[in-house]
Amino acid sequence: MSKKQVFLYKGTEIDVEWDERLCIHIGECGYSKGELFVAGRDPWCQPDLSSPGEVKEIVERCPSGALVYRTKSGQISESASLENSITVSYQGPYFVKGNLAVEGSPDDMPGVRFRAALCRCGLSKNKPFCDNSHEGVFKDYGAVGERGEPLEESGGELNITPLPDGPLLLSGNVTIKASSGRTAWHGSKAALCRCGSSKNKPFCDGAHKSIGFKSD
Ligand code: FES
Repeated sequence: MSKKQVFLYKGTEIDVEWDERLCIHIGECGYSKGELFVAGRDPWCQPDLSSPGEVKEIVERCPSGALVYRTKSGQISESASLENSITVSYQGPYFVKGNLAVEGSPDDMPGVRFRAALCRCGLSKNKPFCDNSHEGVFKDYGAVGERGEPLEESGGELNITPLPDGPLLLSGNVTIKASSGRTAWHGSKAALCRCGSSKNKPFCDGAHKSIGFKSD
């Protein structure tokens, strides 16, 4: 029998689901005020200890999509952010937020329709998602040099296609933010490096070919 990786925490009005496959332990949930998440307690998550509104607000902080909330009928009622954005983190993954369609992501990972942490070092064993393999070995400070074209409109779906042995192809309105928080690039088409070797990060410069990057 395979190990359980998705856990449901039931409340009276709202349930919370945690997907261990996606969690990279950023800790936004644990640092929230109140008693919704308490490390070491059993169960760790108790939805009835916060109001449903607080549960939603705290769960939506989760940058990896590992946490979602469900109505008592099991529906995902989260609305996507109106703007699609990608933050190039300091020595870490791309944090993506918005109306997301990550090609190839399993149907039972509903959180990545709204929030995802995507590997950009090339080392994750859970590609295209980050698994913290970058820690201590990947060096990139998350600056973004190019500006892209100003967007005439925003919103809509952002399609993210992890090309085999190649970059993440973006299609859809998106803003890219440097790790400093600066909004650095706008556009609707881009290829982002996910092998870790581009000299023009976060964009792909073709280096994945010369290093023989394998995405599987
Ligand atoms: S994916 Fe890294 S250079 Fe293309």
